[in-house]
Amino acid sequence: MNELKERILNEGHVIGTDILKVDHFLNHQVDPVLMAHIGDEFAKHFKGKGITKVVTIESSGIAPALMTATALGVPMIILKKQPSKVLNERLYQTQVNSFTTGKNYDLCLSADVITSDDHVLIIDDFLADGEAVTGAIRLLRMVHSTVAGIGILIEKAFMPGHQKLKAQGYNVYSLVKIKSLEDGTVKFED
Ligand code: G4P
Repeated sequence: MNELKERILNEGHVIGTDILKVDHFLNHQVDPVLMAHIGDEFAKHFKGKGITKVVTIESSGIAPALMTATALGVPMIILKKQPSKVLNERLYQTQVNSFTTGKNYDLCLSADVITSDDHVLIIDDFLADGEAVTGAIRLLRMVHSTVAGIGILIEKAFMPGHQKLKAQGYNVYSLVKIKSLEDGTVKFED
C-alpha cells in the first residue's frame, strides 16, 4: 500500500536496527483518514471470505480494526491484555510473550461475544515475532471459531512472524513489508 509506505518514509523513525516508530499516525497520534483507507483496503482484500467478526489486540490494532470492521459491516472484538476483575467462567485467557518488550501478558476473550459459527479476520498493527497473533489464534481456537484471515499493517519481514503463521497454514496479508531497518533507513520488500 503506497500511501502507508509514504507515511512511513516521511514520518517514521528507525530506532537501532529493528524498531520503527510510527507515533505520528498509528501508535500515539492516529490519522483517521489513513485508517479509513486501510480499512477499505483490508475489506477489499478479504471480501468474499465470509468474515463475520474482526478481532484485534489492544491497543494499536483498534483503530485500523474498527475501520476494517466498518468497511466490512461486521462487529469488532478487542482482545484485552488485562483479565476482567469480574469472575467469569466464559472468559478465556492465554499468555503471550512479547519479544519486543521482553514481557509476558495475558490475552483475554469472552465467549459471550463470539461463537463457533464466527469466521474471524485478525487485524494488528505490527507483525514481528508473531507471538501476539499466535496468542489471538489460540484464544479463537478455544472458542472454536474459524480464523479466515490475518491482516497486518506493517510486517517486519526480517523477523520470523510471517513464516511462523504461514507454517501453520494461515494466509497473512501485510500492507507493507519491511526488508530491513539498518543504518537508520527503511527498506521495503518489492
Ligand atoms: P509480535 O506482536 O509480532 O509478537 O511482536 P512483539 O510481541 O515483539 O511486539 C510487541 C509490541 O511491539 C506489540 O505492540 C507490537 O505491535 C509492537 N511492535 C513490534 N515491533 C515494532 C516496531 O518496530 N515498531 C513499533 N512501533 N511497534 C512494534 P503492543 O505491545 O501490543 O503495543 P500496543 O498495541 O499497545 O501499541
